Amino acid sequence: MPEETLVVAVPKGRVLEQLVPRFERVGFDVGVLTKKSRKLIREDAKRGLRFLLLKPDDVPTYVEYGAADLGVVGRDVLLEREYDLYAPLDLGIGRCRLAVAGLSDVAYPPPPGKTLRVATKFPNVATRHFQAKGQPVEMIFVQGSVELAPLTGLADVIVDIVETGETLRQNGLAVLEDIHEVSSVLVANRVGLKLKRERIAPLLEALREE
Ligand code: PRP
Repeated sequence: MPEETLVVAVPKGRVLEQLVPRFERVGFDVGVLTKKSRKLIREDAKRGLRFLLLKPDDVPTYVEYGAADLGVVGRDVLLEREYDLYAPLDLGIGRCRLAVAGLSDVAYPPPPGKTLRVATKFPNVATRHFQAKGQPVEMIFVQGSVELAPLTGLADVIVDIVETGETLRQNGLAVLEDIHEVSSVLVANRVGLKLKRERIAPLLEALREE
């Protein structure tokens, strides 16, 4: 049995489905992740592996504080908040984009001098985007179902993740402007990377080459 357990924080949900084959193609057996269970810690003692199943936004926090050695996190999360992490590898999965969206007939860009009301889960990304354009904004923070904001008059536009575009379409909204391409990144705790280099380095190399 390997001496040290490697702890990997992974996001629950859509990205996990793409992550399992991505890991398995490089011979990183993650069978414990595919079991139907509500367990949040998935232990593979034989391989010295432990997976933590987290809300995507919490992955970098667990890795930064060393509760996990490695993590898989969307670039959107890293753009929104700064973490002290090593991010050696883009995994090329979980592809989507951050975009400004709204009703297709909304005045966008708005007339000069008008303050744009923006609803978003990404206030820092959105603020930077509109600041760079010199567009005055009123930022309204919401947690989810962001597409409701322009439909109800809460905001003029939203800044949100667009993957297939289906949520926008079904709610009568359209992309008005792209902000950033997003995909999932492998992140590592800086200390863990040194202490467990023998376990982490071959994995990074295999993922890079695949
Ligand atoms: C995300 C995002 C959009 C949707 C986009 O929401 O906020 O609502 O996915 O995907 P699509 O372009 O493929 O339709 P998520 O499902 O994470 O739920 P949330 O509303 O709770 O954030």
